[in-house]
Amino acid sequence: MLDVQAIAHPPLSPHVIRREDYTPPDWQVPEIALDFALDAAATSVRATLNVVRSSAHDRPLVLDGAGQTPLSVKVDGVAVNDWWLKDGGLVIPLRGSAHVIETEVEIAPERNTQLMGLYASGGNLCTQCEAEGFRRITFFPDRPDVLSVYKVHMVADKARYPVLLANGDPIAQGDLPDGRHWADWHDPFPKPSYLFALVAGDLVANRATFTTMSGRDVALGIWVRAADLAKTEHALAALQTSMAWDERVYGREYDLDVFNIVAVDDFNFGAMENKGLNIFNSRYILADADTATDYDFDAIAAVVAHEYFHNWSGNRITCRDWFQLSLKEGFTVFRDQGFSADQGSAAVKRIEDVRGLRAAQFPEDAGPLAHPIRPDEYQEISNFYTATIYNKGAEVIRMIATILGPQRFRAGTDLYFERFDGTAATCEDFVASMEAASGVDLSQFRLWYSQAGTPRVTASVAHDAGSGRATLTLSQRTPPTPGQLDKQPMVLPLKLKLFGAETAQTLAAEQLVLLDQPSEQIVFEGISERPVLSINRGFSAPVVVETDRSAADLAFLSAHDDDPFARYEAMQQLMLDTLVESAANGTADHRAVIAAIAGTLDDAALDPAFVAEVVLLPSDAFIGDQMARVDPEAIFRAREALRRDVGRSLDTRWRAAYDAAQADSFEYSPAAKGLRRLKTVALGYIAASGAADAAGLAFGQFEAADNMTDRQGALATLVSGDSPERIAALDIFYNRYSDNALVLDKWFQAQALSARDDTLEIVAELSRHRDFTLANPNRARALIGAFSVNQRAFNAADGAGYRFVADQLIALDRLNPQTAAKMIPPLGRWRRFDAARAALMRGELERIVATPGLSKDMFEQASKSLA
Ligand code: PHE
Ligand code: ZN
Repeated sequence: MLDVQAIAHPPLSPHVIRREDYTPPDWQVPEIALDFALDAAATSVRATLNVVRSSAHDRPLVLDGAGQTPLSVKVDGVAVNDWWLKDGGLVIPLRGSAHVIETEVEIAPERNTQLMGLYASGGNLCTQCEAEGFRRITFFPDRPDVLSVYKVHMVADKARYPVLLANGDPIAQGDLPDGRHWADWHDPFPKPSYLFALVAGDLVANRATFTTMSGRDVALGIWVRAADLAKTEHALAALQTSMAWDERVYGREYDLDVFNIVAVDDFNFGAMENKGLNIFNSRYILADADTATDYDFDAIAAVVAHEYFHNWSGNRITCRDWFQLSLKEGFTVFRDQGFSADQGSAAVKRIEDVRGLRAAQFPEDAGPLAHPIRPDEYQEISNFYTATIYNKGAEVIRMIATILGPQRFRAGTDLYFERFDGTAATCEDFVASMEAASGVDLSQFRLWYSQAGTPRVTASVAHDAGSGRATLTLSQRTPPTPGQLDKQPMVLPLKLKLFGAETAQTLAAEQLVLLDQPSEQIVFEGISERPVLSINRGFSAPVVVETDRSAADLAFLSAHDDDPFARYEAMQQLMLDTLVESAANGTADHRAVIAAIAGTLDDAALDPAFVAEVVLLPSDAFIGDQMARVDPEAIFRAREALRRDVGRSLDTRWRAAYDAAQADSFEYSPAAKGLRRLKTVALGYIAASGAADAAGLAFGQFEAADNMTDRQGALATLVSGDSPERIAALDIFYNRYSDNALVLDKWFQAQALSARDDTLEIVAELSRHRDFTLANPNRARALIGAFSVNQRAFNAADGAGYRFVADQLIALDRLNPQTAAKMIPPLGRWRRFDAARAALMRGELERIVATPGLSKDMFEQASKSLA
C-alpha cells in the first residue's frame, strides 16, 4: 500500500558540509567592480568580475547566489544565454583561462528581514555579508579563500542618502541632475566577499585622527544619526586606544587612510569587521552616563577593539574555509580580552570572562550541540558563531601563550602575521607558526582543535608529616560528545601552588604543570605542615577541576590565596558546595559561606570591584550545571535561602558597604565602576534579607541616580519583588526612555529576568506590548532570549515557558532564521531535567522541526538538539 504520509512529508535530508571535503576554488577573482543604483524597494547591482581559471580543469564558473534571476549575463562584453541556475547560484561555461563576467540583478533591501546581504535599518541601507550574505547581493564565489580587489560605484537619492560609504578609500563623488548623487570607493587590499560593506544613509560622523607608529595619519569616523552624535565619544576614544594598543602589544599598524564605523539598530550580532568600514549593532557604540551602564561602556570598548583587531587577525589574514572560523575569532577574542584587562582590573576581567565561559560555553560543550573549536561539519555556518568558537577558542590561544611565555608567544604571532599576510589561512598554520617561533612541540596540544567537551580534572594531595612529603595526584577525563565517544588525554597547563594550612606560608611556589597523561603524580619534598592546594590559578586551563578540599580549606583560600582568580574560585566552590547540598536536601549549613563573605567584606586591602565579584552567589544555571538532574525550583529555593541568610547575617556590613560606595557625581573610571558595582550588589543582599526599608532604599537609588548603572541596578532589584515601588519604577523608566530603543531593551530584559512567580505571564503580556517586535534582534533577545535563560521561569513544570518560547521562535524564524536559531539551545537542555520536563521540551523541539517552511538554521539546531 502506498504510504501517503511518507509522500506528504519526505524525510528532510540536510546538506552537510564537511571539513575534509575542502578543495581549492576552481576560479579566482582577482578584481571585482560593483555598480549599485541604491533604492530601498529596488536596488540594481551590476557586477564585473575578472575571473581566472586556477588550474588545468574544464569545469564551468560556478557563482553562488540566493535564488535571484540575473537580468543579464555577459562574457567578455558579449551577452550570453548558455548559463543556468543551480542551487540558487549561476553556472557559466567558459572556454578560456581568463574572462570578464558581467551580471546584473535587482534586489529589495526593504523586504530583507533576515538582515543578511543589503538591508534597510532605520531608513538607511547597509550590508552584512559574513558568512554567506554577499551571494544575496550579487552572484559571486562566496567563500573566504577567494580574495579580490573591490571597486564600488554607488548612486542614490541625495536627500534620503546623503552619505555613501564603502570599504577602503573614497576616490571620487559627484551630483547627478536628477537629485541623485554618486560616490566611488576603492579598497586596495584583496579581501574575501564576507568583508564587503556599503552604507547609504542620513548620518553624521564624530571624527578624529590617529597617527600610526610610522607617522601616517588615519581619518577616523563614527557614523550615527544626528541625534546620537553625543553618544559616540566613548567608542571613538576606545578606537584610538585600541589602535595604539595593537601597535604596542602586537606590533600591528593600521593600513588604510580611512577607518569608519557605522552604528545600525537592526543587526544580528554584535558588530562586523568589514575592511575599513566596520558596521556595528548600535548597542556597541552609543553610550552616555544617562543611558548606558558600566557594563555597556566596557562592552563597547571591548567590541570596538575586537573589530579593530580583526584588521590583522581576520582581514589581512583571513580564513581558508569556515571550519577555520576560530582562527580569526578565538585569536581576536583573546586579543580583545588582553586589551580590556589592560584598561582596568585584570583580575576582575578574568573573573568576568570565566563566568561568561561557564555560562555559555560549558553547557554547549556538555550538550547536544557540542563541537570542537574547529568543527568537522555543519549544515548552516551561521549556527557556528558560538561560544565554543569564540570563547573556548580564546582559551586555547591563552593556553598556547601560557605554555610559550610572553616573548615566545609574541615571536609566534609575529611569524604568523609575516608568513600568512594576504592569505586565507588555517588553524594549523597558526599552530605551526607558534611551534616554529618557539621550538615547542604542540603535537598533542592540537587535540584542543579537534576534541569537543570540557575536560574534567581531579586533584588530591596526600601529605606525610613524618617525611615532609606531599604527593599531588592529578587525573583527567573528557566526557563523550556527539560523534566523539572516546577521547584522548589533552595537554592541560595547570598553574598550581601549595599553602600551609596553619601558617598561610607558601610551601611550594607557583609552578606550571603540563598534565598530558590520563593521570600523573607530583611529589613535593620539605612540606612541613599540611598543605592546601591552589590549582588552575588564573584559570590557566578551561577545565572543570574536582578536588577533595574541605569547606575549611576553601574558606582559607578565599581569605589567603594571592592569586585573585583562585581566591574567587575558592569562594565560588564553597558557595556551590553549600547550594548543591541545600538544593538536594532542602537545607544546608550556611555558616562557612557567611563567614567567608564577612571576611572578604572586612578586608580593606581588596579592590571593591573584586569584592563585588567574589561575594556574588553563582547563578541558578551554574548551580544546575553541577547537579546530575537540574531541579529548578529546589535550586531557586536554595539560592534564595542563602541570599536571605547572607543578607540578614551581614546586614550591618552591607549597609556600610552601600553607604561607603556613594559618590558625588558620575565618573567612568575603574575605581568608580567598582564602587557602583559593590553598591548594587549590597542593595541586592539588603533586599534579599527581607528588610522593610529595602524597596524604599532601591527606589531612592533609582530616583537619585545620575547614571544608568545605579538606575538599572535599582530597577533589577525592584522587579523581582512585590512592592508598589516596582510598578512606579517600571513606569517612570518606560516613560523616560520610551523613545530610546537600547534603553527600552533593558526595560524588557529586566522583567524577563525577574525572580517573581508570575514572570511568564508578564513576559507573555510584554510580547504583545506595542513596543515589542520580533523584527529587531536586540528586542527579541531582550525579551525572549533573556526569558529562556531565566532557569526557574523558563522551566515551569507545566511546560508553559517552553511553549511560549517555541511559539516565538517559530514566528521569528519566518523573519530572521539566524537570530531565531541562536535561541534554540535552552530547549536542547532536556537531558539535564526530569522525565516530565524532558518530554515537554522534546515536544516543543519536535513541533519546531515539523513546522512547514522551517529554515535550515532552525532545522539544524532543533534536530541536533533532539538527537
Ligand atoms: N565577525 C563578527 C565578529 O565577531 C561577528 C559576526 C558574524 C557579525 C556574522 C555578523 C555576522 O567580529
Ligand atoms: Zn570577531
